[in-house]
Amino acid sequence: MGNVIEIRDIVRDFQLGQETVHVLKGIDLDIERGDYVAIMGPSGSGKSTLMNLLGCLDTPTSGSYNLNGKDVSKMSDDELADIRNKEIGFVFQTFNLLPRTTALDNVALPMVYAGASKKERVARAEEVLNDVGLADRMDHRPNQLSGGQRQRVAVGRALVNKPSIILADEPTGNLDSKTGYEIMNLFDEIHKAGNTVIMVTHEEDIAAHAKRVIRLRDGIIESDTRN
Ligand SMILES: Nc1ncnc2c1ncn2[C@@H]1O[C@H](COP(=O)(O)OP(=O)(O)O)[C@@H](O)[C@H]1O
Ligand SMILES: [Mg+2]
Repeated sequence: MGNVIEIRDIVRDFQLGQETVHVLKGIDLDIERGDYVAIMGPSGSGKSTLMNLLGCLDTPTSGSYNLNGKDVSKMSDDELADIRNKEIGFVFQTFNLLPRTTALDNVALPMVYAGASKKERVARAEEVLNDVGLADRMDHRPNQLSGGQRQRVAVGRALVNKPSIILADEPTGNLDSKTGYEIMNLFDEIHKAGNTVIMVTHEEDIAAHAKRVIRLRDGIIESDTRN
């Protein structure tokens, strides 16, 4: 299948006043197309920093990142925005939906930037909302939906442009355990359908859904095992 992600010696430093904070200290990582990966580690170990780099929301201080055959580590902001829209589906702990916008329009939004027609957008958004179990909630706004339903909308939005990778940073972190379990079943289905899924979690039973578990500690990979 080949690698969808190839990372070599990624370093990410942040400048805080006079002080340089060394967050990622040299990460090498290959991820195969179609894999299902959990990233674990203590709070502050660099999980979100790594996810933001994988998701092209940030660029490294040094090192290279090859995503789906393209070197993204040296791209401009415009090029990154384009890659992000085409190649990445990002799911956040806090859903990050547009509040006054229906589920259908939230899901269809990434297709606007991708240049799809209104007709294509509506047809695809309906298909995706159906896939995530929200066929009967398409016209609801986020405040008319439960937390689990909001996260389903966010998962639908992540899937709509058929990205190369789905990234999820603590996707069950704001959900009760039953709802979190349902969202994990949805990620399992998305993986089974052939998608590459990478998620951050600090819960072992959530990580058990993945095929591969990578543990970060203090900005380096401490272990990398297969379930
Ligand atoms: N923009 C930033 N500026 C300065 N320090 C940052 C920034 N982003 C993250 N950090 C620091 O990097 C470390 C790792 O953060 P993060 O990747 O969010 O950890 P995790 O997701 O594993 O809890 C923390 O010590 C955090 O304070
Ligand atoms: Mg985090």
